[in-house]
Amino acid sequence: MKRVKVLDNLNLDINKGEIFGYLGPNGAGKTTTIKILLGIISPTAGSVSLLGKDIKEIGVKKYVGFLPEQPYFYDYLTANEFLHFCGQLFNINRIDRQKRIDELLRIVKLEESSHLQLRKFSKGMLQRIGIAQALINDPELIILDEPMSGLDPIGRKEIRDIILSLRDRGKTIFFSTHIIPDVEMICDRVGIIMAGKLQDVGYIDDMLDASISNTEIIVSNISEPLIDEIKKIAPQCIQTSDKLLIKAENDEQISKIIETIYKHHGQLISLTPHKKSLEDIFVERINRGNN
Ligand SMILES: Nc1ncnc2c1ncn2[C@@H]1O[C@H](COP(=O)(O)OP(=O)(O)OP(=O)(O)O)[C@@H](O)[C@H]1O
Ligand SMILES: [Mg+2]
Repeated sequence: MKRVKVLDNLNLDINKGEIFGYLGPNGAGKTTTIKILLGIISPTAGSVSLLGKDIKEIGVKKYVGFLPEQPYFYDYLTANEFLHFCGQLFNINRIDRQKRIDELLRIVKLEESSHLQLRKFSKGMLQRIGIAQALINDPELIILDEPMSGLDPIGRKEIRDIILSLRDRGKTIFFSTHIIPDVEMICDRVGIIMAGKLQDVGYIDDMLDASISNTEIIVSNISEPLIDEIKKIAPQCIQTSDKLLIKAENDEQISKIIETIYKHHGQLISLTPHKKSLEDIFVERINRGNN
């Protein structure tokens, strides 16, 4: 069989109690990473430990919940029956199981459909029942492979809210996605993977803070000498009828621009630092990975 290198030297730590977003384009190796984390496939080298235990210790699975990328459902079971089936796999007794199922159906907003066969579920409803089954054992660590895929904006927000409420209850969540805003909105840390290599990993706030790309300065009460002098400092300024919009690339430029404004009696309207978005950082890392 032809061997393919899908992941290369992947080294990743997830902190307890955090939401970790695993971001990467199609084919980057996200699902493969998750399969390795869960012991579904084995890496050629290296090891995985979950909750401090080697993944080969079967007992650790009791504390882990998992939503696959393309879950398979038994079409003719109702939501309630399906969750009973999943609960039985964890040896949860019938009374506790029903209590847990009722609670989960409420969390994923499927109480009304508990007696509907899964073949009659929409994509969004299936995604929710998928999340419910991942939580049946009240896991400490929840691994979700693209939990928001195929959902409308409201559905995505509901899943985000569920993930946030799980973190509030002290759970650790690892999820893969290529939807950047979802990561930006709820994750504590993010790892960016491209072609099997981890391009970047860290706290989102740190990544964004370290990335002021330029500062926009707007000034009014402009005169010819003011414009001439500013153009020498920052050539890409834009002049409207009564204002000048200036882009400063660094602190030194900002100081020079401010001095010039005051010297020529211009009026400073605003000074706004522009940070890169997570999308800018993502695209940058992906391009770096391509080169
Ligand atoms: N069993 C396999 N045999 C050969 N190649 C594989 C196998 N599984 C995955 N790959 C390859 O590994 C790469 C990563 O696949 P993976 O499914 O991990 O990507 P992904 O990041 O989850 O992508 P997506 O966003 O499309 O789900 C792809 O190039 C894929 O073709
Ligand atoms: Mg995948």
